[in-house]
Amino acid sequence: MSTFPEHDLRPAPAGSSMWHPFADMHAVKSSRTTLVRAEDVWVWDNTGARYLDGTASLWYTNVGHGRAEIVEAIARQLGTLDAYQCFGDFANEPALRLADEIARRAPMDAGKVFFTSGGGDSIETAAKLARAYFAARNQPDRTILLHREHSYHGTHGVGTALAGIDPNRVGGPFVPDVVRVPAFDAEALDRVIGTLGADRVAAFFCEPVIGAGGVLAPPPGYIEAAAAVCRRHGVLFVADAVICGFGRLGNWFGIERFGVRPDIVVFAKGVTSGYQPLGGIVAAGHVAEPFWDEPGRVLRHGQTYAGHPAACVAGLVNIEILERDGLLDRALKMETVLEQALQTLVDHPLVDHARGGIGFLGAIELDADRLAEAPALPATVMHAVRRNGALIRPMGTAMGFSPPLTATEEHIDLLVDTVRTGLDEIHRAPRSSLSNGRSAS
Ligand SMILES: Cc1ncc(COP(=O)(O)O)c(C=O)c1O
Repeated sequence: MSTFPEHDLRPAPAGSSMWHPFADMHAVKSSRTTLVRAEDVWVWDNTGARYLDGTASLWYTNVGHGRAEIVEAIARQLGTLDAYQCFGDFANEPALRLADEIARRAPMDAGKVFFTSGGGDSIETAAKLARAYFAARNQPDRTILLHREHSYHGTHGVGTALAGIDPNRVGGPFVPDVVRVPAFDAEALDRVIGTLGADRVAAFFCEPVIGAGGVLAPPPGYIEAAAAVCRRHGVLFVADAVICGFGRLGNWFGIERFGVRPDIVVFAKGVTSGYQPLGGIVAAGHVAEPFWDEPGRVLRHGQTYAGHPAACVAGLVNIEILERDGLLDRALKMETVLEQALQTLVDHPLVDHARGGIGFLGAIELDADRLAEAPALPATVMHAVRRNGALIRPMGTAMGFSPPLTATEEHIDLLVDTVRTGLDEIHRAPRSSLSNGRSAS
């Protein structure tokens, strides 16, 4: 008999040596929030406190927490074929089936799916594939990767180079031939490609709605115009749907919202709603062709856990739930509810404005004067809201929201009320009591 359940119930040691991502460990080492349980839109910590999950963890618990169907399917899979690699000619049933389910929903012809373990892995894959595709098409000088201001594409080598959030480039950029363009200016994109020479540019990386950069929805027409510029110059359009996919924008890959047919789509997070780590790319038929139809050409790329059967089973059941429970349509309906709810916060002295309206995600931008006085204000707001029972994320100068797609109007009302209570507490506190430290995000 396994000793796991006993082990599971033991409280975690104080002063653990775990180094948290994106964390000020000096502060975190003495003050962690240790979560022990989750159900639908709720999570509990080890003191018994319950929180409304206003961010679906890190933008991914799209079907909500605690779905027994997914958990049981994973357990069944681990009990039959626990794991086996997919390099060369190996495969497993869940990986084969999930690839087909994803390809048939992707907004491109004859899509081929390459699995990875997460978003950053998938960005690396897309970048390497874009360059390898042009090399195979006798255009080896097409190596430049374009990315946008404010963009977030993970923290691997390529993602660090493609970071439009400057602090995230520290230590990088690791990858040559990367050029940044303005976030919302298709004419500038056209000019940059013209200046560089189209015969040097491989791909343009584009989040349909910029997520971690602050929840920035594109102005009308921008995505369509940028895609048209890429098409005209023969540059591959890579839609980074890591946040926007699997329902967040009311469809499968976010980019359909703009009627664009990308050359490559990058996905992760919502593909399993986080029940297992999984990511991947879909390459349109014409991008996959040199590797699928010409003998002897190998894309020398892949991660150990690519196509892991337990992760792929989680993806299969997750897609079934998204469809059966109508969660894509629900996200569309809830995007307006969330946006209107966030707008009610703009009268607060700590809030400058609210953003949202495309997809079930949004942000409130904090007041610039208060931020100048207390740069750690976003972290202070996060903690105050947490003390009052809800989880939201600091993102630069804003606070981000992306609840599970199962959240109801009542949940959103409660979320916004809790945020207001937290903001009020900070506003009433003496200004000198606000930390002047650094925000971790
Ligand atoms: C748009 C986007 N791309 C890529 C990534 C990287 O994904 P991961 O953290 O799984 O490496 C993220 C993560 O938040 C993301 O938001």
